[in-house]
Amino acid sequence: MLLHLDASARRASFSRRLSSVYAETWRAAHPGAGYVYRDLAAQPVPHIGEAWTELCDHILEHEITDISRYQEAARTPAQREAWAVVKPLLDEVVAARVILIGTPMYNYSIPSALKAWLDQITFPKMSLEGRSFVVASARGGAYGPGTPRESYDHQERYLRDFFRGHFRVEDVTFIHAELVNARIDPSIAHLREQHEQSLAAALKEAAR
Ligand SMILES: Cc1cc2nc3c(=O)[nH]c(=O)nc-3n(C[C@H](O)[C@H](O)[C@H](O)COP(=O)(O)O)c2cc1C
Repeated sequence: MLLHLDASARRASFSRRLSSVYAETWRAAHPGAGYVYRDLAAQPVPHIGEAWTELCDHILEHEITDISRYQEAARTPAQREAWAVVKPLLDEVVAARVILIGTPMYNYSIPSALKAWLDQITFPKMSLEGRSFVVASARGGAYGPGTPRESYDHQERYLRDFFRGHFRVEDVTFIHAELVNARIDPSIAHLREQHEQSLAAALKEAAR
């Protein structure tokens, strides 16, 4: 199953365009494999609250590593309410073989809508081994190797470290459309051609 998430606050979005191209290609190559779509910007998941942290602490304290046993942690009405938010989100993740995330870079990192989803579905020592993550991203500037802002990229670095370090997923692919701001920011309008090249390469990669 392909779980497809989008996190851009806007509809006419480059990360949405890239993720939709990837999803169309994947679905054509895997007919009948299943597909679930979730728009984290249009239908935001709530931030975690205190009862969620109690679920988390119980799972850690009782060394529950089997995801199918997490519900044991929901003992009070408030905890059961918190679990009712987590369960459908986590079921989708567990059922997925590929998790595709369309996301912009916001303030050198990821949108809070995506972070809220990650916070909801992540528990201590939780492995998602055997799955793949694909991140289709758009950013206003350029952050590739050798660029002046390379070290400011806390979008790819954060997600890569998180997926590898916490979920133990090695198969992580990033597709970036860069310099999107060259379309609107007069001070970098001269980089428009570089942006067009970056976008064309990203669309090609997404369709592969
Ligand atoms: C709130 C906000 C913060 C942004 N922060 C950054 C940033 O730190 N670095 C950057 O290169 N672009 C930044 N941008 C530009 C976006 O990354 C760019 O517009 C991108 O295309 C957004 O993705 P989308 O087209 O999928 O909506 C920001 C845009 C917004 C709206």
